[in-house]
Amino acid sequence: MEKIRKNAFSQIADVKNLEEEELLRVSLLGRKGALTSILRSLKELPEAERKKVGEGANRLRQEIGAALDEKKRQVEEMAREGVLKKEWLDVTRPGVKQERGHLHPITKVLREAISIFSAMGFEVAEGPEVETEYYNFDALNIPANHPARDMWDTFWLRSNQKEIPNPKSQIPNSSGLLLRTHTSPVQIRYMEKHNPPIRIIAPGLTYRYEATDASHDFQFWQLEGLMVDKNVSIASFKAIIQEFFSKLFKSKIKIRLRPSYFPFVEPGFEVDLSCPYCKEKGCSICKKTGWLEIVGAGMVHPDVFKAAGYNPRNVQGFAFGFGFDRIVMMKYKIPDIRFLRSGDLRFLKQF
Ligand code: DAH
Repeated sequence: MEKIRKNAFSQIADVKNLEEEELLRVSLLGRKGALTSILRSLKELPEAERKKVGEGANRLRQEIGAALDEKKRQVEEMAREGVLKKEWLDVTRPGVKQERGHLHPITKVLREAISIFSAMGFEVAEGPEVETEYYNFDALNIPANHPARDMWDTFWLRSNQKEIPNPKSQIPNSSGLLLRTHTSPVQIRYMEKHNPPIRIIAPGLTYRYEATDASHDFQFWQLEGLMVDKNVSIASFKAIIQEFFSKLFKSKIKIRLRPSYFPFVEPGFEVDLSCPYCKEKGCSICKKTGWLEIVGAGMVHPDVFKAAGYNPRNVQGFAFGFGFDRIVMMKYKIPDIRFLRSGDLRFLKQF
């Protein structure tokens, strides 16, 4: 019995978890345990010894049972402490602040522009950024040999297959595809599918193959406009463009038209806005002139109407286009166009 006790207590001391405790309890006190077999064989002993051995064995049984109970309690407590340590939570600690993103400054001003134009009845139209030579140039009255094509330095797309061959193209191995150099092709695409009256703006990305500097990027936004009806005039254009910029800059803007040349309009002009920052006194934003040269515009050329399938005798209208990044830069006084697409958070977080 002394051997059994020693053995039992050393085994109990080694128990590390509830499963081990359970197994040991069965092996020490269960039906097949050494103690049980002693108790079971008591009847074979002479009367005098039977009592002594019986009492001893029963006491040992209780002792072992108590030791196992105590061990079980300890193991349970250790388990609970382990969980607490692992899943410890201080509910009074301040949380980790989640950083929130926000709209890009171009998107903000673009949404504003769209809402001002839509209040005047203009819808938003879209066209592809990968454009055909036809829509980007030919349909806009800019034939292959026309010197005006030099005005747009173009990213031509090379291809093994000639997707949309243009017999007039002077570009060797031309796929007929390019990154649009302006949003004007949307005019043609829209007129092909809709009849007048038309009032659309077409904001979108455009591309030019040129070196970048503070005011030029090879990728930039333009906003095109087109209004066509029976008697839309330059006066209509002036009123609408003046209203748009006055609302956008929240300041009464004056408009000045200067004759200019774009192949897809006749007459064509450049539009100057009175500087909203200095009221024509001259400041750094208007380069001390009091005026901002921003918009190209004109009355839609009859050949453009023809290309879109209209009879130029029945309709007339104006078109305009301007660089949208410049407007955003002016609104927020951003000194370098390249910041806009830099992805630099130090820049973006300021808006
Ligand atoms: N597409 C011209 C450019 O990229 C801008 C322009 C000028 C658009 C006159 C027009 C327009 O619609 O009438 O420089």
